[in-house]
Amino acid sequence: MRSIADQTDDELGGPGSVLVRQRRDHVELDRLLSELDGAAGVAQEEVLNRIDRLVFSHAFAEETVLWPVIRRVLPDGDALTLQVEEEHQEVNELVTALERDGLDSPERPARLRRLTEVLREDVRDEEDVLFPRLQEALSAAELRALGRRWELMRRISPTRPHPTVSRRPPGNALSGLPLSLIDRTRDVVDAGVRRVPDRFAPAGRALSQGLAGLAGLVERLPLSRTGDGPPTSR
Ligand SMILES: [Fe+2]
Repeated sequence: MRSIADQTDDELGGPGSVLVRQRRDHVELDRLLSELDGAAGVAQEEVLNRIDRLVFSHAFAEETVLWPVIRRVLPDGDALTLQVEEEHQEVNELVTALERDGLDSPERPARLRRLTEVLREDVRDEEDVLFPRLQEALSAAELRALGRRWELMRRISPTRPHPTVSRRPPGNALSGLPLSLIDRTRDVVDAGVRRVPDRFAPAGRALSQGLAGLAGLVERLPLSRTGDGPPTSR
């Protein structure tokens, strides 16, 4: 079995294939992680924000669209996807802790190191193990159809960490759209706060905090938590 990292776009099913789309994001993530490594202070926070915007919607759409297919077509799909879900859970918890404790937290450097490590492990597990197995089980046309579904889901998935939401359907599928709307509104508000004069910033920050509280309510609804097994449920 060859890693999808070593194959041409054609071998992976063409430009629309889920494998090509996945690899494109992973390459971008690798670039951002290298940038994070040399950054400090506000610049570091900005790179981290860009990493968050990339990875959370990417992973959420994997969990709602791709992993259920892997569990259906591979006999050991459950164990394979559970390992990746545990990595995603750890990423959710690390970013939640980083955001909660701010730039001056003594734990920040260790958390950032661990975040980089888990994200790189996650990419290796997907590109070297999970996706080559999926490639064996599906035709090129099926890989392209799955690529379209994943891309669509990614565009309407949450962009922030939600550690208490189920990593499996139906909880994640049901809470995905409301959380996505709240997250993306917060993204716009936060970007505005960075641009407006200082006297308007507190109102923007209060609005962002209010939206965070609302997301917390959706996250804790029993419906949002259904589908998880013990290893990833919080
Ligand atoms: Fe991925």
